[in-house]
Order: sequence, then C-alpha cells, then structure tokens
Amino acid sequence: RPLLDPVPPLPSLYTSVGFSIFALLATLYLVPALGPTFISANLKGRDLLKIYQTPIPESLGLVCASVYILLLVIFIPFPFSNSLANLPSHEHGKMLHEGLSVAESLHHQLSVYLSSLLSLLIATMLGFLDDVFDIRWRHKLPIPIIASIPLLMVYYAERGNTHVVVPLPLRPIFGALVNLGPLYYVYMSLLSTFTTNSINILAGINGSEVSQALIIALSIVLNDLLYLPWPIDFRVPLHLLGNQAEVDIGGVWSAGMAHGSRELVGRHLFSLYFMLPLVGVCIGFMYHNWYPARAFPGDTFCYVAGMAFSVVGIQAHFTKTLLLFFLPQIFNFVLSCPQLFGLVPCPRHRVPRFDPDTNLLYPSKTLFHQPPNKLTTAVLRTLSTFGLTDLTLHPTTGNILEANNLTILNFLLLRLGPMSEKRLVRVLMCVQVTGSVLAFFVRYGLAGLVYDG
Ligand code: UD1
Ligand code: MG
Repeated sequence: RPLLDPVPPLPSLYTSVGFSIFALLATLYLVPALGPTFISANLKGRDLLKIYQTPIPESLGLVCASVYILLLVIFIPFPFSNSLANLPSHEHGKMLHEGLSVAESLHHQLSVYLSSLLSLLIATMLGFLDDVFDIRWRHKLPIPIIASIPLLMVYYAERGNTHVVVPLPLRPIFGALVNLGPLYYVYMSLLSTFTTNSINILAGINGSEVSQALIIALSIVLNDLLYLPWPIDFRVPLHLLGNQAEVDIGGVWSAGMAHGSRELVGRHLFSLYFMLPLVGVCIGFMYHNWYPARAFPGDTFCYVAGMAFSVVGIQAHFTKTLLLFFLPQIFNFVLSCPQLFGLVPCPRHRVPRFDPDTNLLYPSKTLFHQPPNKLTTAVLRTLSTFGLTDLTLHPTTGNILEANNLTILNFLLLRLGPMSEKRLVRVLMCVQVTGSVLAFFVRYGLAGLVYDG
C-alpha cells in the first residue's frame, strides 16, 4: 500500500524534466557560441595550471544563470495552473473550511517562487560584479545575506517554524522543542553566505566548481524523490521522513495530496522544480569546463548555484539535510579560516602549484616574510600535527618560513601525493559523492537514533 495518496501533480514534474533537458542543450550550445563575445568584453582569464597562455573566456556562469533563471520564469504557469485545475471539489471545501482560500494559497506559493527568483537574480548580479570588479572578499561576504531577505520574509509571513527538535539525550535539559526565534533567521541568512562562498573558495582546477554544484544538486534531487507519492512502495518509511524539525505549516503546493503529507510533498516538488534545471545547466556547462577547460564559470556561477541551494533548503525546510551535502565545503572552509581571517598570509590564488616538466600538481605554499606571531605558530603547528598542512621551518631559529595553503585541494595532494589536474578533479568528485553517501546515512540512519521522528 502506498504511504502517500497516489494522486500527484506529476505533469508539472514532467514539464520540469523537459525544461531541464532544454537547459542542458541551451548551455551546451550557447557557451562556445558566446565565448568570443566574452573575450572581446575582456571577460577572460589565463588557465593557471597550463603551459599555454591562451585567454579562456571567464564568467560563462552568466550564460548558465541566464538560461536557468529565464527557464524558471517561463515555467511559472505550469505548476500554478495545475494546482487550480486539479483541485477536487471536496479538497476545495476542506481548504475553505480551514480558512485558506484557493486564491490565497496560490498567492502564497507564488510569493515563495518569486522571492526565490529575486534571490537568484541578486546572486547573479553580485557574482557578475565580482567577476568584473574583483570585489574584496570581506566586502562581498554580506551581500548574500541581503539577497536572502526576500526568502526570510516569505518564511516569516507563512509563520515558518523557528523551533528545533532537541536530540533525545538532551531532552531532560531543554525539553523536546527549543524555539530559536530570531536566531533561526540569523542562521538562515548566514546559510546563504556559506553556500555561495564555500563553492567559490573550493575552486581553481578545471571542472571543480561545476562538479561540486552538480553532485550537490543531484543529492538534493535524490532526497526530494524520496518524498514523492510513488505508485510503488519503495520509499523510506514515513516516520523517518517526518522529522518534526522539518515539517510544519508550509504552503499547500500540491492540492490533491493526502492531507497530512501534502505540504511535505509540495515543498519537495518545489525543490525539484529549482534543482532539475540546475542539473541540466551544470551538465551542459561541465562539457566545456572539463579538463582542458575551454570556458571558466567565474564567480557568477558559484554564487547562483550556491544561492539556488540556499533557496531550496530554506523554502522547502531542509537546511540541516542541505548542510550535510556540503561536508567537503565545510571541511575546506574550516581549514581555510586561518587564511580567510588574516592569521596566515592569503595569496590572491591558493590553487595547487603546477610543474610543467612532470605535468603534475603539487601543494602550493604561502610565504612568511616575517616570523609569525605565537597564535599563528600554534594554529599552524596543530594543523601540521594532524597532517593538514606541511611546514618549512628555519634551520636555526625554528620559525615557520612556509606553510601549505590551507585548502582541501592542497590537503588531498599532500596526503595522496602529486597528481595531474584531471585526476585531482576526479578525486574531488569522489570526495563529494562520499560526503553525500555519508549525508544520507546520517540523515536516514543515524537520525533515527537521536530523534524519535
Ligand atoms: C578563489 C580562491 C583562490 C583561487 C581562485 C581560483 C580563496 C579565498 N579564493 O578566489 O584562492 O585561486 O578562487 O578560482 O580561496 N582558474 C584556473 N583554472 C580553473 C578555474 C580558475 O586557472 O579551472 C583561474 C583563472 O585564472 C581564472 C581565475 O582562476 O581567471 C578565477 O579566479 P576568481 O574566481 O576570480 O578567484 P576568487 O573566487 O576570488
Ligand atoms: Mg571564483
């Protein structure tokens, strides 16, 4: 017996798949077609890890973002006209009874969708400005927070949940639910800063930005599919999906669902509508960005993809699951902190060092022009004890002269030895996939131990 009422508004999902295939084809065609235009507009960069100097068109993420956002706009009529047309009369009555007219719920869904588009547009603008003007990262950090305000206001307007479910062992102290109130909004706005910047700083080798975005998007799609009302029952039991922290009074996206789970299904459909075209765009662009890259994504791509992840995480209420898909990015960010916050010198590029003779990549170094202070020395020595960086010490004074740049790419090269760029991006993709497998295990395996579902 299916766990959810098998009357899905699946036609819109099929439309979304169609749009995604179109997104793939459009990106595949437009990126090389527009490359020369980008070069003549001075949007170009040198591939740092190659011997040739040929300028490569940069910020082609703008093409990806334009295709993506335009298709999302053209898609608007499909789910919205469906949710009205498919409404059975008894559902209609029930909704009126609940004081939520069909028109109101449609408005609500539209505001969720439109605010998401607004955040994506702000992210595109920020990313493109960054590509053109090279904004200092301290200045660009707060902009995604502003871009997330439309999302947060819609969340607020629907009286979104600000409670977190307390894990079982901590319940005697905190009770079953803790209301984080305004702090929950702070958390959600920081999430958008994290998702956008964390992809951007795990970059510099061909295909790295796009492959991360693709694997995260596919993981989200897989997670969303678990919530759809499939005619055959191969899904995770409902009690595992219905983690209270992520279930609350959301919109009525897909009228016609079994009442209890209707909102849940609707929210994950919304997520699919935003993730499927992103998958299409990523695959199309990856073809041109794969080693040896003929186009660079630029910051525009990183910001739009990162913002799309925040949008679905916030609007479909699965921010914690979302963060589990960012394990390599969290690792890279935490490892980068000493360089990001000025403790250790941070060169403009922290990409691995390329040796033209062997055609291999080696960990790159940051140089200390004066002896580091006590705090920096302590931090670096600790990192080096755990094998996260490699230090060169002065033979007599013992002061640190050089340290490996603190990124996951340099860390992988340090642990696994020098390798080619093509191989390193594959290793990075394996790490990302392993992270997602672990995420599913934690979410649907371990979560049952610390939450009662
Ligand atoms: C971030 C990183 C920086 C890294 C850079 C590479 C931090 C704080 N910043 O900076 O360390 O060097 O990304 O993207 O971690 N490039 C390649 N091959 C690629 C992709 C990019 O050589 O596959 C080079 C090109 O010269 C390109 C440039 O990187 O022009 C783009 O750098 P940009 O995105 O502007 O750097 P940031 O995002 O500021
Ligand atoms: Mg960048």
